[in-house]
Amino acid sequence: MKAVVLDVDDRYRLAEVDEPTPGPGEVAIRVAYAGIQWGDVLLRDGHFPSARPLVPGFEVSGHVEAVGEGVETFRVGEPVIALTTAGAYAEVVVAPAALALSIGDLSLRTAAGLGWAAPTAYDLINTVGRVRSGDDVLIHAAAGGVGSLAVQFARLAGAGRVVGVVGSADRAAYAARLGYDQIHSRAEFPTTLADGHFDVILDPVGGRTRETNLSHLAPHGRLVVYGNISSYEPTLVSTNDLLAEGKSLITYNSSLLGQTHPERLANSARRALELLAGGRVRLDITAEYDLADLGAGVAKLAGGEILGKAIVRVG
Ligand SMILES: NC(=O)c1ccc[n+]([C@@H]2O[C@H](COP(=O)([O-])OP(=O)(O)OC[C@H]3O[C@@H](n4cnc5c(N)ncnc54)[C@H](OP(=O)(O)O)[C@@H]3O)[C@@H](O)[C@H]2O)c1
Repeated sequence: MKAVVLDVDDRYRLAEVDEPTPGPGEVAIRVAYAGIQWGDVLLRDGHFPSARPLVPGFEVSGHVEAVGEGVETFRVGEPVIALTTAGAYAEVVVAPAALALSIGDLSLRTAAGLGWAAPTAYDLINTVGRVRSGDDVLIHAAAGGVGSLAVQFARLAGAGRVVGVVGSADRAAYAARLGYDQIHSRAEFPTTLADGHFDVILDPVGGRTRETNLSHLAPHGRLVVYGNISSYEPTLVSTNDLLAEGKSLITYNSSLLGQTHPERLANSARRALELLAGGRVRLDITAEYDLADLGAGVAKLAGGEILGKAIVRVG
């Protein structure tokens, strides 16, 4: 089959590789579309420990082509989205059956946009951040895959003020269409925030921004840490200070959740899928690449040039 291989020189090449077969509890999916996401940038830049060469790619839509031991055979032919740990930029990928979810009548192209961002955003708002009616929410990387869904889930949860932080004027204009009450520029954050405080802050940024976020939490507020886009430098926090102000720092790791409690992750993905299918959240697929052009797509995402979701056309 055709697949994209990422080699030690950080380059993507189209190659012929063996088709994978599903093991126990797995399904093989004939891929229609694969989603490009920030994990591709991290993998390309060597932040994930994986032996190369490898077929990268974390999220697909397509049809179940074969099932492994213990998986119901009626699933063959089912249109699904699936979350994987690798292998998505290929004509066939293997995924845990629990993380391959039926998409019903939703189009394969639209469904491909959900990827890991959808259950992540859903959990950040509902399961981990526990946004309640009237809560004020601050969302960094506000126009990215996770942020652009998180603002919509926050609205559905009845949030009060929802404020976003973005890196450019283009992204501010895009984010304004997603339901934020206010958008701040990353360069001017936190000056323009003045003394604003929030019940929930979503932080995929790290470094100094994480320290600043802690100081902008309201009493009993929750800082949800889920990435380190700007810096892997650890942030040191005094739990005594947190306790005194009733603040919480919580982490979220969807990849680990997919291994330890796949059903929990699947439930959140299913909920996001229903909201998309029901027209209650929007997801803009704004860039589409051929498999051979994956490198260009990942470079554009890394450079902040993609507004909305980028996908790769495979089948
Ligand atoms: N823990 C988990 O379970 C989990 C799951 C999914 C994703 N993530 C993480 O969540 C983060 C966002 O993912 P995504 O899929 O939403 O991203 P994305 O759509 O791939 O876009 C990247 C985002 O990062 C922002 N960004 C780039 N450089 C930045 C910097 N130096 N400081 C602050 N923001 C910067 C960009 O926004 P601006 O240029 O507008 O600032 C953009 O919104 C990534 O770190 C990803 O690894 C974590």
